[in-house]
Formats: sequence, structure tokens, C-alpha cells
Amino acid sequence: MITLFENYNQMSEYVASIVAEEITNNPNLRLGLPTGSTPIGMYKNLIQFDLDWSNVKTYNLDEYEGIGENHPQSYHTFMNKNLFLHVNLKKEFIHFPDKNLDTHLKQVGGLDLLILGIGHNGHIAFNEPGSSPTSATRRVKLTKETIIANSRFFGSEDEVPKWAFTMGLKTIRESKRIILIANGQDKWDIVNNCFNGDVTKDRPASVLQMHPNIEVFYAPQ
Ligand code: GLP
Repeated sequence: MITLFENYNQMSEYVASIVAEEITNNPNLRLGLPTGSTPIGMYKNLIQFDLDWSNVKTYNLDEYEGIGENHPQSYHTFMNKNLFLHVNLKKEFIHFPDKNLDTHLKQVGGLDLLILGIGHNGHIAFNEPGSSPTSATRRVKLTKETIIANSRFFGSEDEVPKWAFTMGLKTIRESKRIILIANGQDKWDIVNNCFNGDVTKDRPASVLQMHPNIEVFYAPQ
């Protein structure tokens, strides 16, 4: 289930080429998108493709609560900088999770492709350890571990928001195709445990083992 890449650049190029191919094959693609440091290389490669994004619908996985959309560390800002400002995606087709997301996705037929990162504690989006595999899109409290990990983007731990809105595990699992990307030696143990170990609520990503169309890409450096 885990595909190993020689390095981060090769993995990023490959994931970008898959997204580009999906958009070419289906100009109306409903595409789920991650933030964090891992997908930056994918976005860098993806914006080099000459693609028509005008009918693509994007669905971000999560967003902090309590900082405005224009905050430098908001996921809105991240997405503008890394993707949205570079392609002809329509503003009204950009989605971030809110209480209406699950109903909306049900009406339109779910996500066609979802790219995911993973946290050191096995979280996906902001579904922290203990999250129910059938959880809906919802407001969540971040764990201390995630706050510490994400403080590298903020001035200090205190400045990291304590709450967020996340796509639920049920919503994620309903995507037709999922690709989880991870890089760095420090992520190997969690990736290996999630996909070669037991399925457990303690490692939220492990529930994806049961998904019929999941690929896991890992690059050690
Ligand atoms: C954050 C995000 C996740 C992301 C994870 C890993 O907390 N909410 O969606 O996958 O951290 O981030 P990174 O790629 O920076 O290690």
C-alpha cells in the first residue's frame, strides 16, 4: 500500500501529475486539498501545468478558528499563495469546511479525489487521535501535540489557534480516490504504523486501510 519515493521532489512531481491527469480527464473534478508543509512541492509542480480549472471544485480539509481568512497563517492564505492565485479557479467553487459541507457533498456526489497529509500523531485534516471513523465535518479542539507542531508557523505556541474546523473522517472516507503523502524520516513510524499496523482510533489515518482506493506515498527526504 505504501509507495516509496527516492526524494520529496520526485514524490511532489508525481502527485502533481496525478492531479493534472484527473483534471484533464474530468474538468468538473471535485478535488479535496491539504495544507501543511508536505503539499507545497505538489502545488509548485501543479501550477506549472497548463490546465483549465474553471469548472474544478476544490474542498479544503480544514481551517483554524479564531484567526481571520487574511491572517498570514490561515489556510485560506496558504491556498491563495500556493494555488488559487496561480490558476483560473472560480472563487465560488472554492470550499472550506463548515457545518453545511457534508450535506453539500452528499448532494453533489462526494469528492472524486482527495490529497491528504498526515500529522505525527496520525491525524488527518484535524481529526485528532480518538476521532470516530464515522465523524462528520465539525469544530474540533486541537491537541497539545498539534499545537506544538504547528507553532513553527506562528510566533509562539500561544499564538496557535486552539480550535479548528475539519472535514470529518466519514466525509474523508467517502472520497472516491485518496492519496496520502508524507515525507521525512520523522514521519516514517507513523505512516508505517497507520498502514501496516492495526486499525485504531488512536491513529486516525489507520482507518484509511479499509478504503478501496487509497494510495500512500512516502519520501524519506
Ligand atoms: C496540520 C494539518 C494537516 C496536515 C498536518 C501535517 O495540522 N491540519 O492537514 O496534514 O498538519 O502537516 P505537515 O505537512 O506540515 O507535516
